[in-house]
Amino acid sequence: MGFGGTEPSASLERLCDGPHDVYADACGPAHASFKKGCQWHLVLDNGSVNYRSLGRTGYQVSEISFGAWAIGGAWGTVDDAESMSALHQAVDSGINFIDTADVYGMGRSERLIAQLKRDRKEEIVVATKAGRRLSPHTVEGYNEANLTAFIEDSLRNLEVDCLDLVQLHCPPTAVYYRPEVFGVLDRLVEAGKLRNYGVSVEKVEEALKAIEFPNVKTVQIIFNCFRLRPSQLFFEQALRKNIGILARVPLASGLLTGKINAESQFEDGDHRKFNRQGERFDQGETFSGVDFETALAAVEELRSLVPSGVSMAQFALRWILMHPAVSCAIPGGKRPSQVKDNCAASELPPLTDSAMAAITKLYDERIRPLVHQRW
Ligand SMILES: NC(=O)c1ccc[n+]([C@@H]2O[C@H](COP(=O)([O-])OP(=O)(O)OC[C@H]3O[C@@H](n4cnc5c(N)ncnc54)[C@H](OP(=O)(O)O)[C@@H]3O)[C@@H](O)[C@H]2O)c1
Repeated sequence: MGFGGTEPSASLERLCDGPHDVYADACGPAHASFKKGCQWHLVLDNGSVNYRSLGRTGYQVSEISFGAWAIGGAWGTVDDAESMSALHQAVDSGINFIDTADVYGMGRSERLIAQLKRDRKEEIVVATKAGRRLSPHTVEGYNEANLTAFIEDSLRNLEVDCLDLVQLHCPPTAVYYRPEVFGVLDRLVEAGKLRNYGVSVEKVEEALKAIEFPNVKTVQIIFNCFRLRPSQLFFEQALRKNIGILARVPLASGLLTGKINAESQFEDGDHRKFNRQGERFDQGETFSGVDFETALAAVEELRSLVPSGVSMAQFALRWILMHPAVSCAIPGGKRPSQVKDNCAASELPPLTDSAMAAITKLYDERIRPLVHQRW
């Protein structure tokens, strides 16, 4: 499968050499009549996501990018063909930045992205992460030998000589007080193994500490309508230092799409079943750390603010994009339709002042007491 290289905003024709059974969704409705032996097809729904600077990395990244955790694992059953289709849809929609980690399906997510990069000519920037393969996950584990080995594995999985961006993967807080860890990353940059590094953090305090290290160029942090605290001191400091910010868990694990209700069932292998109380990893990563019933009630209130013709997912993502400190939101997507829906957020007009104020009020009244002091 290969597509001719076109700009993300191209809307006319695109070279397409099939087979298309797996990628039918990515090829869009216009493709159907050309299905057999086609070389060209109309791209009716090519997205036009906007781009923002990723801090000092020099990359201009799609403000809606792609979170590749779910296609690796821990979200119930996933099908690689459908995941590839979702990835192709991402590129068709103009996404040029993908967030993954070595630990997502133990290389599965990284290998699918390598496959995508083989299939497509567009430039795709990949951010991966290292550290979570440590077992036990200790401060001492963040040493030169381990980090180098993790990086080598990611290079192999992603089939590249040099990684675009490596993020420490939510290390214990004490790691941010060990300059030697960042020294290891500096040496890996010097050795040509990675171009840039950053951190993925759980807490605002960790983010503030991390950006004291001069070569930390990006911070990935949970930021969504149910997690407002990063927008205060941290965003202010990050703007001052020109730090790239990846807003993760932007849909609160799907809650902010409005599709989850009290009857929703999750598979055993889905963290929305096995990690609700933080049994396996930080509780904040699952439903953004908000108690399920409280979150559902808040989602109902949020629903009344969503303009007609806009999905709640788009509305929640557009809210994130209202914050200029954010470089991109990285919604997870397992299916092309989800990716397409999410990308459309980039084309929406700004939210009104009254909608912004209503979301803050909702947060202050229902969510803040549960999460604000924790992360
Ligand atoms: N520690 C870390 O560094 C860390 C932790 C968490 C996440 N992340 C990164 O952040 C990314 C995003 O966070 P996340 O995946 O946890 O959560 P999320 O983006 O808040 O939610 C993603 C889930 O919501 C559902 N969804 C997405 N778009 C949808 C749409 N338009 N309509 C309906 N449902 C939709 C999908 O699940 P279903 O279809 O199954 O409902 C999807 O897997 C991850 O993929 C990963 O790259 C990093």
